Amino acid sequence: MRKKTYFCSYNLLYNMQNSRLINQDLYYVGASDRKLALFENIYPIPRGVSYNSYMLMDEKTVLLDTADAAVGGQFFENVAAVLNGRKLDYLVVNHMEPDHCALIEDLLLRYPEVTIVTNAKAAAMIRQFFNVDIDNRLQTVAEGATLNTGRHTLTFVMAPMVHWPEAMVTYDTTDKVLFSADAFGTFGALNGNIFADEVNFDRDWLDDARRYYINIVGKYGVQVQNLLKKASALEIKMICPLHGPIWREDLGYYIEKHVKWSSYQPEEKGVLIIYGSIYGHTAAAAEKMASLLAEHGVKGIAMYDASHTHVSQLVSECFRYSHVVLASSTYNAGIFTPIEDLLHDLKAHAWQNRTVAIIENGTWAAQSGKQMRTLLEEMKNITILGEDISLKSAMKENQIEDMKFLANLIVAGLNNE
Ligand code: FEO
Repeated sequence: MRKKTYFCSYNLLYNMQNSRLINQDLYYVGASDRKLALFENIYPIPRGVSYNSYMLMDEKTVLLDTADAAVGGQFFENVAAVLNGRKLDYLVVNHMEPDHCALIEDLLLRYPEVTIVTNAKAAAMIRQFFNVDIDNRLQTVAEGATLNTGRHTLTFVMAPMVHWPEAMVTYDTTDKVLFSADAFGTFGALNGNIFADEVNFDRDWLDDARRYYINIVGKYGVQVQNLLKKASALEIKMICPLHGPIWREDLGYYIEKHVKWSSYQPEEKGVLIIYGSIYGHTAAAAEKMASLLAEHGVKGIAMYDASHTHVSQLVSECFRYSHVVLASSTYNAGIFTPIEDLLHDLKAHAWQNRTVAIIENGTWAAQSGKQMRTLLEEMKNITILGEDISLKSAMKENQIEDMKFLANLIVAGLNNE
């Protein structure tokens, strides 16, 4: 391997490149971060995250995206090791969010002969983020443009708003590899196994994949559908996303999940109960509702205390299930804050096509039910079942029949869909 001669400004020099050959002449040169607490400074990532980057070692060398600054040391070691003294000919920029573009300026200093291949919107963002002159090393591409690198021909497909307006994906027509940018990504660091078929994805990764998709690009279902439509016209043998495992088997399983998520259809016919409770009385009503549903044979009921669950998880679960029970105390003459935050976040993510039941609570002037209903009515195709259950401080025996009636409506809805 070529001896390193540059000064690395990121973390430390590990002296341990960790690139991986993933397909003939294609290498993984990304890295994982298990230190970061909040992705985008908002989403908890207890399982870490990977910043994927790929290097094609053809007659010309091509790097597809860079990585987050946090893994810059490892990334540059991987790039240098794979190049092994060869010059870097091209950098393809599929996405300009800093978790993938942060190292562009440093890359240009290390590999000054590189040509940047990207679309006009992304080029403008490079100029916005960095003080570098790219005019004499930029090759601008539009929908359907191609780049021949020797054995490979790369085609560029625009994917606006998946997840930013400049996003594009790159399709290797030679080996049928789709470099899918943020699409098909997931939270979660890679633990040596970089292929989805090397892990139990359904058991260990799907929750994070759903939470990533819904919270990062969930708002842009139409645009994701457009990309899926374009992708369906391509023969794809491998999907290389910018986060999470690479897909080379059972691609249909993962694509189908995205079809469902992006079309706002529930992934599971089932009941999710989320409550916001100050002293436990609203929680008790939610627990009772769960028991009534279980007695009616409803299985796999999910229940969360909104005060103890990150809203990104709650939003993700709301996208998962067909029926949602929302129970909230009244607070400041409105909805208890964690439930109010959830409803605003659901609206921001274009949540739709679901059935909801409402339980409110208030000691002197219950307001939360009415206000939850108002927020839900601002969303698309949300069916609110029956009358709201209104508790005055605590549920009483004479309200059990109302609870049973609401439970029956939920069960009937589940059985009829
Ligand atoms: Fe992983 Fe939109 O960046």
